[in-house]
Amino acid sequence: MNEQDPFELVANLTELEPLARDRMERPAFDYYAGGAGSEWTLEQNRAAFDRWVLRPRYLVDVSRIELATTVLGQPMSMPVLLAPTAFHRLAHPEGELATARAALAVKVTMCVSTSATTPLEEVATTGVSRWFQLYVHRDRSTAERLVSRAYESGYGAVVLTIDVPYLGERERDVKNRMEQWFPEEIQAASARALSTGGTAGRELFDPDSRFFDASLTWEDLDWLRALSPLPIVLKGVMTAEDATMAVEAGVDALVVSNHGGRQLDGAAAALDVLPEVVEAVGGRIDVMVDGGVRRGADVVKALALGARAVLIGRPYLWGLAIGGEAGVRWVLETLRDELRLAMALTGATGVDQISPAMVGPAAGRR
Ligand code: FNR
Repeated sequence: MNEQDPFELVANLTELEPLARDRMERPAFDYYAGGAGSEWTLEQNRAAFDRWVLRPRYLVDVSRIELATTVLGQPMSMPVLLAPTAFHRLAHPEGELATARAALAVKVTMCVSTSATTPLEEVATTGVSRWFQLYVHRDRSTAERLVSRAYESGYGAVVLTIDVPYLGERERDVKNRMEQWFPEEIQAASARALSTGGTAGRELFDPDSRFFDASLTWEDLDWLRALSPLPIVLKGVMTAEDATMAVEAGVDALVVSNHGGRQLDGAAAALDVLPEVVEAVGGRIDVMVDGGVRRGADVVKALALGARAVLIGRPYLWGLAIGGEAGVRWVLETLRDELRLAMALTGATGVDQISPAMVGPAAGRR
């Protein structure tokens, strides 16, 4: 008897998490699902979407909806990217290759993590539209090599993640003793050979290991820019002040993000910070947002609040864990279909028609 297709049991992205929980080893599930501290920020990322309502306009010809857009001038089939996430082989043996093939099929840009378990060159051979997410190691030459390899392998941008001078305290990982449980063979493939500290896998969870360069500052952006001609995206901006500094530093785009609630517990929901960042940027560069995007309507809200595009993290990891390439594809196609319907029902025929007037504060919100 064939096992039932698990995706026939679910109707949307949020229903994937319990399904994945049943299929994954507990420490792996907790690593994906969890956040820092009391997970307040993690919860707020979702709750923030409920603080806004959509304001639909009707009697608009919505017989055709165009989802295509551009970010950094690069064409996107819809305003959704795959956020960089570490260690895809923890979810599925094909790891990042499965993710990349799904993203290619749906023409979505994939941000490939420094902590990917597949070398960045191998991900590139799939032909997926790709950006490279950079963590700067204490040994700066590692970052220098990674950026030039990304450039040579046809990556379209460097995404510098700025919110990890130290790894956040994820209490689920502490309780699961991740530094002992984490499989030896799961390694950050691109960085492993380069990293002098040998910090490419389970060592990351050792509280005594110092993986990241905690001395990185705004001054280092000149160093980063000189490494390649690639546009630079700053990921992790959470204030108008840093957004202004990013624009002044010549950054090409930014992602409003609290790392999916995995770094500073007590930080605001990403969506709640988006309006102040959009205002500070004043249209000078593209602003994206991630954290808690689960529905097509969430994408419409984020765009109405000024985002050019959104990134999703955990939902596609659940898809990967449950169904490999087909699972990630299901996630992207489901979100795309929801987005198309949400736009049609709001009266937006194209991404550029999603306006600030299409959102308002939910009842009870001042
Ligand atoms: C992440 N995130 C992340 N970010 C990054 O810049 N580099 C990385 O290697 C990782 N790794 C990672 C692993 C896992 C398991 C998760 C869940 C997240 C953060 C990610 O890019 C993104 O900011 C959040 O996942 C967005 O929130 P949602 O969509 O998961 O709610």
